[in-house]
Amino acid sequence: MRINFNVPPYTGKEMEYIRECVENQKICGDGIYTKKDNEWFEEKTGVSKCLLTTSCTHATEMAAILAGIKEGDEVIMPSFTFVSTANAFVLRGATVVFVDIRPDTMNIDEKLIEAAITPKTRAIVPVHYAGVGCEMDTILDIAKRHNLFVIEDAAQGVMSTYKGKALGAIGDFGNYSFHETKNYSMGEGGALLLRDEDYINDAIIIREKGTNRTLYQLGKVDKYTWLMPGSSYLPSDMNAAYLYAQLQMADEINEDRISHYNRYIEEFKPLEEAGLIELPYVPDECVHNAHMFYIKCKDGEERGHLIDYLKSNDILPASHYVPLHTSTAGLKYSRFHGEDKYTTKESLRLLRLPMYYKLTKEDQGEVIQRVKEFYKAV
Ligand SMILES: Cc1ncc(COP(=O)(O)O)c(C=O)c1O
Repeated sequence: MRINFNVPPYTGKEMEYIRECVENQKICGDGIYTKKDNEWFEEKTGVSKCLLTTSCTHATEMAAILAGIKEGDEVIMPSFTFVSTANAFVLRGATVVFVDIRPDTMNIDEKLIEAAITPKTRAIVPVHYAGVGCEMDTILDIAKRHNLFVIEDAAQGVMSTYKGKALGAIGDFGNYSFHETKNYSMGEGGALLLRDEDYINDAIIIREKGTNRTLYQLGKVDKYTWLMPGSSYLPSDMNAAYLYAQLQMADEINEDRISHYNRYIEEFKPLEEAGLIELPYVPDECVHNAHMFYIKCKDGEERGHLIDYLKSNDILPASHYVPLHTSTAGLKYSRFHGEDKYTTKESLRLLRLPMYYKLTKEDQGEVIQRVKEFYKAV
């Protein structure tokens, strides 16, 4: 395709930083770039600790271990999400309980959460779809009254805020993704954000195979040993180096993406006013990061025709999640509480358009023109 759905971010400094790791013969985890990345996020979000991980999937697994999720527990989340949001808890033996989403933001409907709580519920996992925050005050209030953990899936939410607070830094734990499709990338990677200091020591041990190797490397113990169940969740410093190049230019990347987003909104407003499509909605208390730009077609059939039309013009759009409760594993490990009023219906209508750092004016103009042509509104 001439115009791809995504192009991984690249600023120009990445190779220099990776070369530095190689030349310094420090390519394993927790080198200087991992430290720089962790400190950058701690400063930016105000959390007690950030731990760079091998993926957001793994950061979520760490959060599930830290929250003590075990067999028989229940965890509430939306079904309109990536498999990793659910897998992390299913791997610990929990049952996932889905509730419906809000059609305006595609986020979990906070008003439906409380009715899904049972004596087995241990955590709520809000997913900030498209980097637009969930209604966190309501969610935190429910969690407090029922003594539940809040684990934010902020895979798409780096640089976004809710009421001025960084997404990922509001709940007990927050998880970021630096997969190549994300605003800031290291190929594969993620981060676990810890709001409260109490969990830092255990998190460091879990991330290093359940050992105190980190203390050993800091020269604080003579040898390291196995202390608790854990796994290998720390990435190579070469990946961390790739990410750091982008963190240094985080504002510029963000502004570039926001400008593409705003242009799409401006250009497609007439289509929305004519009742042909729906555009994304951002609540007043949220500042988003232009992680994605989507439109909603009339229904799945129309979306299929638009996909074909764009592809025939060398443009690659993308649909998004197949609701997890309808999947093979979802049928086995989860249940949907209440009515699926919007999850399936809205997911079938949603279409993501090309959106990435350095998307050219010409290419974006081409995407806009083709969409307008499809709706015969040029
Ligand atoms: C909402 C959500 N959660 C989790 C993930 C998993 O991220 P990663 O690929 O870094 O494991 C993704 C990836 O796209 C995602 O969109």
